[in-house]
Amino acid sequence: MAIVCLCQGVSERKVVRAIDAGATSIDEVTERCGAGNRCFGCHPAIEELIDTRVNVRPHGAAFA
Ligand code: FES
Repeated sequence: MAIVCLCQGVSERKVVRAIDAGATSIDEVTERCGAGNRCFGCHPAIEELIDTRVNVRPHGAAFA
């Protein structure tokens, strides 16, 4: 299992779950799963996951 946020030990799966539950920004991902609230080194990875997941949502099709 890939760890996205080393500081908080948050896996990619947890970040994806937070995004699929409605998080659309890094702050919202942080609120939901804790990833990204320390060194911020994982922010690019979180951003990439948000882009990937939002584009697979039905309402995200407009941005594809
Ligand atoms: S790796 Fe996520 S806050 Fe440091």
